Parts: sequence; structure tokens; C-alpha cells
Amino acid sequence: MCGIVGAIAGRDVVPVLVEGLKRLEYRGYDSAGLAVIDDGGQVRRVRRTGRVAEMEAAARAEGLAATLGIGHTRWATHGGVTEPNAHPHISHGVALVHNGIIENHEAQRERLTALGYAFESQTDTEVIAHLIHHHLGRGLDLLGALQATTRELEGAYALAAISRDAPDRMVCARMGCPLLIGLGEGENFIASDVSAIVQATRRVIFLEEGDTAEVTREAVRVFDAEGTQTVRREHLSDVSLASLELGPHRHFMQKEIHEQPRALGDTLEAIIDAAGFGPALFGAEAAEVFDGVTGVQILACGTSYYAGLVARYWIEAIADLPCSVEIASEYRYRRAVANPDHLVVTISQSGETLDTMEALKYAKSLGHARTLSICNVPESAIPRASRLVFYTRAGAEIGVASTKAFTTQLVGLFALAATLAKGRGRLTAEDEAAYVESLRHLPGSVQHALNLEPQIAGWAERFASRQHALFLGRGVHYPIALEGALKLKEISYVHAEAYPAGELKHGPLALVDADMPVVVIAPKDSLLEKVKSNMQEVRARGGELFVFTDADSRFGPSEGVHVIRTPRHVGVLSPIVHTIPVQLLAYHTALARGTDVDKPRNLAKSVTVE
Ligand code: G6P
Repeated sequence: MCGIVGAIAGRDVVPVLVEGLKRLEYRGYDSAGLAVIDDGGQVRRVRRTGRVAEMEAAARAEGLAATLGIGHTRWATHGGVTEPNAHPHISHGVALVHNGIIENHEAQRERLTALGYAFESQTDTEVIAHLIHHHLGRGLDLLGALQATTRELEGAYALAAISRDAPDRMVCARMGCPLLIGLGEGENFIASDVSAIVQATRRVIFLEEGDTAEVTREAVRVFDAEGTQTVRREHLSDVSLASLELGPHRHFMQKEIHEQPRALGDTLEAIIDAAGFGPALFGAEAAEVFDGVTGVQILACGTSYYAGLVARYWIEAIADLPCSVEIASEYRYRRAVANPDHLVVTISQSGETLDTMEALKYAKSLGHARTLSICNVPESAIPRASRLVFYTRAGAEIGVASTKAFTTQLVGLFALAATLAKGRGRLTAEDEAAYVESLRHLPGSVQHALNLEPQIAGWAERFASRQHALFLGRGVHYPIALEGALKLKEISYVHAEAYPAGELKHGPLALVDADMPVVVIAPKDSLLEKVKSNMQEVRARGGELFVFTDADSRFGPSEGVHVIRTPRHVGVLSPIVHTIPVQLLAYHTALARGTDVDKPRNLAKSVTVE
């Protein structure tokens, strides 16, 4: 969703801001803008709806150049997608960008209107710019005015502001939305996401909840929620520039699908190195946190939720522990019964999905002290709020539709199931060795599945002309059917539903006719015969079947039954391998339909609002 970048330097920062905003495009946005203090000491602003490139062209046409500026990509919440609603917002020489939502904006708007402020936008954000100006008028400096303002705001925000009266500094604040400061040589930066500034510096300070900061060319001063000056640790970001660039690929999604053998290999490294499972994989406190766990509660959104659904099968079957999985936005608003002996596991690629973060806070407020996060972004909010963390090592995921994050999350969750099982004396040394061996072969098995791309692309041509599709799976492959349907609808806009195959005759069978392609995930596991019966039910109604299976199933094509086989059954890790074909099917269907694969309409990469 929205992105922030700010820079103060001895050089022209406009190209830095534009490049930063381009690197934030992947998060999803609908308008972009930047504001600078120019050599004449004036605030100049350019905003456009649409792409950053359009805003960049406008900035160039106006000859914008400056050594201090802030930029923003906006994903509309309050107020439509219009230029007046795009950030930065300006109040009498103060320019401001904001991520998040100000909940008391209506009351503040009334108050500021009574004070004589005129509003130009329908956003919740504009009140912040006016409030800062109002407090400057009381004699406070820019940082003081920002701090006075944040004391009056309710809601979530990451803010950055500049003022024509203080052309040597930027100020910023964080509450509920990520914000960091990048440290350069004689130049400093502000960003909501490290990818926005990684071309300029890797040295970063992550602000904490309630922090405010003042950033000049030479210095950074950080203040905690009480307003006391404080020191936040400096980190060296390991986000690689290569992971932020497309290289020879047509889309980031394609690149990221093909990166999976590498991403899985990196994520597996610690397990393979240790030749087994153990609490050390999850952090220093893990042995203590896992000790006496009697159940697992998983909370997540979107694709990460589906990873949780797969994990439930593993945790119950391998660790013999009850496991519930719930959509974070549902859990956070219901009266849940907490069991302090249950482990709460949040799963999040970004580590900043608001609903998942709030569900975690709610679980903690109910008395859950055993918390683990499976996450792909180091130092992001959700792992920081958790006692334990397993970092997936997928690398930056840019495509809005999650791919390599999902399969690496599954590795982390499988390791969790095996570790809990081992701790409970439910994992024999033989089983452990066999699981490690299967994991060792996983990148190769995934590569074999990727090699099926030409066949899958052939199927995609037929899906591109359809309006609907049905996905079926059973057991641990049912969540993969869900993930396949989600991928297809997200990026190709073909309506798709997934069902457990056994549920077919309780409803969705009514939809089956010659126009309804039915995708079946049917590996050779204990449920294959059941799935075959379900396929017969589809064929008997004239439905066309597209079956992903493995070589061991000996299942062949026939009239109306198309079959693609992965080379061999990989046992308990089969859902990971069977994810690849459904990702490729969605990708190639979207290609054939000519949709914007990496930035599907209306969707955002990180959903940082409700
Ligand atoms: C958005 C993304 C999805 C993602 C979901 C959860 O909807 O478009 O791809 O699965 O958020 O995100 P998280 O970062 O918490 O895994």
C-alpha cells in the first residue's frame, strides 16, 4: 500500500525520490507525488494519479531540483483517486506525507476549520499538515510541532514532513506503520521500506512505535514515545539489488516463481546444516516457549493463511497437537477463548499486514505469551512483536501475488511441526532423517515441477477464454487448491473457487458443465482413490478435468481428462511441489489475458490498513 521516501543531501534529491517511489510501486498504489524545498526556499509539489513515471515526467517538465524533499505513493482509502487527494499535502509551507489511517480526522477537521484552515482534499491526512502548521504558529520548531501533532492523532501512521521555514531538516514519526531512516555520507533518508533507499545506503535505523525523529544532512535525533531522546540500533540491510530488479524476466511474478529452488534452498540451509530439527531454528527462547505447548493457533491473511491451513495437517499428523487456523481479521474481532499453553503462530510475508499484527496483539492481550512469527522481512513489525521468529529466506518478493514466500513459509511450518513432534517424543530418528532427506531434495523436485511450464502454458490458453474455474483437492492438498484458485482470480481475474473434492456433491457440482474447467490436485497419497471418484462425478456431468498428479499415480489422460505429472511423489512435502503448477497456470492464464500480472487491479502487496 502507500509508500514514503524522503531525502536530504548535498546533491539533487529528485532522482533519488523518484527512484525510491519506483521501488515502492510493487506495494500497490494509485497516485504518486513529491514535494521539495527549492533553492529559492519555496515548497514545490508535483502529484499525479496513475504511475510514478507520469509524475516523474511532470517533475522533469517543471525542472524540479532540490536538496530536500519527500515523496509518496498513495493507495486510496479516504477520498477517491484524484490529484487533490494525492500526497504530499501542504499547509502554508509545510509539506507532509502519511501512511496509515487517522481515526479522529473528522473531529480534527472540525477544529481546524473553526481555526480558519481551508481543506483542499477529502483525505484524513490533510489534518496532519494543518496541525503541524498550527503548532509551528505557537512557536514550536518543526520537530516540536510534529510531536505536539502526534499527541493529538488517533490511529496508525508513518509520517514525514518538511517546512520552508526549516530547509535543513526533515522530521518523521511512526505509530503502527513501518518507518526507517537511512544513513548516508553527508546525506540521510527516510523510507517506509528499505527497498526505497537501498540504492543510496544499506545502513538503516528502524523506528519503534511512538518514535519521532529529526533528520539533517549530518545527524539523526530520535525521540521515544515519551519525547525522550533515545538511540536506536543501526542495522545493515541485506536486501539485494538483484532481488529488486527484473533481470531477463517479463514479470516479477515469473522471476519469483522460478527463484523457488534457490529460495527454498536458502530457507532450508539451517535445517540441513544441523541435519535435523530443533528449537534453535526458531530463536534463543524457543526451547522454553515450546516446552509444554498443548496446541497451536495460527493467524494470517491471504496466501499466508493458506500456508497455515497446510500446516494444520502437518502439526496434527506429525506433532499430534491440536491446531486451529484462523483468518486474522476474523480472530481479532471475536471473543476468542485463549489457552496460554497454546503457541500462537502468525504467518506474514511482509511482517506488516495490519490485521495479522492486530490479531497478534489481541492474542497477547488474551494471555497468549507463546508467540512465533514466520516472516520474510527481517525487523518488520510482526516478528518484532513475537517472542520467536523463523525467517523465510525468499528474498524480496515484489509481485503482489505471493509465490516464493508461500513455499518457503511451508518449509518453516514443516520444520515447526517436526520440531514440536521431536520435543514431544513423537519423532523417531528414522523419520527425522527421512524428513531431512526429503527436504534436501526439495529444491530439485521443485525444479522438476518448474520444467513443466511449457505444458502448463498450453493449458493456460484454454483457461484464458473461460469466465470461471473450479479447483479441487483433498487433505493436505485442499489448501493448494485454494491457493491455485486465489492465484488465478488475483492476477487473471478469472473467477475461481476451490473446494475439498469430497464436498463437490454438496453444492459446486451444480456448476459443472462443459464450460467449467475443473483443476484437480491429485498426487499419489492415501486419498487418491477418493479423488478419482470425485473426478468421475465431474466427467459424468460433462465437466473437463485438468489434473496435476505425480508419476507414481499411474493416472493417464483420457477423453475430457488432461493430465500433467510431476516426476515422482515426494511424500509429506507434496503440497510444496504441487504449488508450482497452480502458480504457473495462473501466471500463464494472466499472460494470455494480458492483465497487469505484477500489479493486479485493486490489490496491494502489503495491506497496512483494515
Ligand atoms: C495481500 C497480498 C497477498 C498476501 C496477503 C497477506 O493481500 O496481496 O499476496 O498473501 O496480503 O500478506 P502477508 O504479507 O501478511 O503475508
